[in-house]
Amino acid sequence: MNLLITGAAGFIGSNFVRMVLDAHPNDTVVNLDALTYAGNLDSLSDVSDNPRYTFVRGDVADRTLVDGVMSEHRITGVINFAAESHVDRSILEPEVFVTTNVLGTQTLLAAAPAHDVTRFCQVSNDEVYGSLGPEGLFREDTPLAPNSPYSAAKAAADLLCRAYFKTFDFPVVVTRCSNNYGPYQFPEKLIPLMIINALDEVPLPVYGDGRNVRDWIYVEDHCRAVDLVFREGAAGEVYNIGGNCERENIEIVRRILALVEKPEGLIRFVKDRPGHDRRYAMDTTKLATELDWSPTVDCDEGLQRTVAWHREHRPWWRKVLTGEYREMYDRIYGGK
Ligand code: NAD
Ligand code: DAU
Repeated sequence: MNLLITGAAGFIGSNFVRMVLDAHPNDTVVNLDALTYAGNLDSLSDVSDNPRYTFVRGDVADRTLVDGVMSEHRITGVINFAAESHVDRSILEPEVFVTTNVLGTQTLLAAAPAHDVTRFCQVSNDEVYGSLGPEGLFREDTPLAPNSPYSAAKAAADLLCRAYFKTFDFPVVVTRCSNNYGPYQFPEKLIPLMIINALDEVPLPVYGDGRNVRDWIYVEDHCRAVDLVFREGAAGEVYNIGGNCERENIEIVRRILALVEKPEGLIRFVKDRPGHDRRYAMDTTKLATELDWSPTVDCDEGLQRTVAWHREHRPWWRKVLTGEYREMYDRIYGGK
């Protein structure tokens, strides 16, 4: 297939491109990415010379550009990772979340049927379902109840995908995954931020009481699941993806400190995130039974690998820790 993979200079997209080029030797890949603060071509330096890989810098909400890319590269499949992806930023600056996550997805959906696209995968998340209490799991038929501007924009995009299937019979699949971690994640997200702060021996900011629960999945397991759903999922369907690894934030932070061999005295409990979802947890029965998928990397192994990666890739994250990122860090944490 000739794939258009959007947002592939970001964390999950870059891992996905590497996996696809390896697993599918007949596929070509075009990475369409606007290179926002989160887009980093260093994350794909190892594939940049691959003749089956092309990078195009641009906005997924630019219809003329999208049409040009789909036609020039004879795109037959689209996997849409491009998004503004950080909840805290969506609280400070929601507009761009609507532009990229909603209008960007709409632009891709509107353009694709006019070309040779026969498969379209929208990469979504568990946050569209809202927040759970201490019990229960999100299923694919759980009503959508997003609580942040980020998750509201992602939910809107999911519903546009549904509409394009129902109205135009366009073969869209939607994946909803839990919290990813692993190599090349921008260090605004919990796990890379805590690893880097621990390595640098600066305070680790934990929101609220630190007892919010996330279901962590190693990024390679997520990529494998997206690839499977993209190729074999039933058109019009939604598939949950999760890591079977529910942990309170404070447990994750303590484990990272232990792996980095730094004291728990570095932990700082800071003001809670507004509208902070308490717990996410996924029922992945549909993906397991219909497509025979399950996660392969358990949380402890994944965290060890991720800490090791950060130890070995200091130049990658040192370069990221500058300018705009520092400014946003101060605005989010109020200089703490
Ligand atoms: P990321 O922020 O690391 O990467 C996003 C990429 O999209 C960046 O390379 C950025 O430059 C690009 N981008 C942003 N706006 C764009 C635009 N208008 N046009 C083209 N490119 C643009 O995000 P991520 O963590 O890799 O997440 C990728 C996707 O997976 C997102 O859609 C996100 O909602 C979804 N998702 C993420 C997680 C997670 O835990 N990180 C879990 C489930 C689903
Ligand atoms: O669930 C999938 C989603 O997971 C993805 O779609 C998002 O792109 C991704 O950002 C993530 O959202 P979260 O808000 O769950 O991830 P984040 O890493 O921002 O925070 C994880 C938890 O850690 C959350 O409860 C907030 C908390 N936290 C986060 C940061 C950055 C802290 O306590 N301190 C922090 O400094």
